[in-house]
Amino acid sequence: MKNQHDAALVEQAIEASKRAYAPYSKFHVGAALECADGEIILGCNVENASYGLTNCAERTALFSAIAQGKRDFKRLAIFVDTEDHTSPCGACRQVLAELAPNIEILLVNRHRIVKKCTVKELLPLAFGSEDLKHHAASL
Ligand code: THU
Repeated sequence: MKNQHDAALVEQAIEASKRAYAPYSKFHVGAALECADGEIILGCNVENASYGLTNCAERTALFSAIAQGKRDFKRLAIFVDTEDHTSPCGACRQVLAELAPNIEILLVNRHRIVKKCTVKELLPLAFGSEDLKHHAASL
């Protein structure tokens, strides 16, 4: 289950959730993304009065990491202070399939209980770059 190594990433995700800008939902999500070089990039949800512009914690972490020159990722811990584990929304699953298809995902609830899953489990039969290759315009 949860080893020491996971515990450190979990604590980072909890810290990240404290940075959430979520005045509308009050649902504070934190993400800690471990890059292949060992660096941890944090993400939180960032809401907007125009609700549809909200960015989830997972995508904030992934996009920040890409902007910092990272391309390879190992683990992503996602924390919400709730009884149930929160799993990534559909948009984040699609972005994970593109940028981090082999990452290990740790869903963390308020008791620090970790539930692990893979991107393939979250988004089977994902649409991706391979699908575009079969399109005549890109041949
Ligand atoms: N949210 C995330 O940041 N990640 C998820 O996995 C689910 C939802 C955010 C978006 C919004 O700010 C709030 O949680 C409620 O949907």
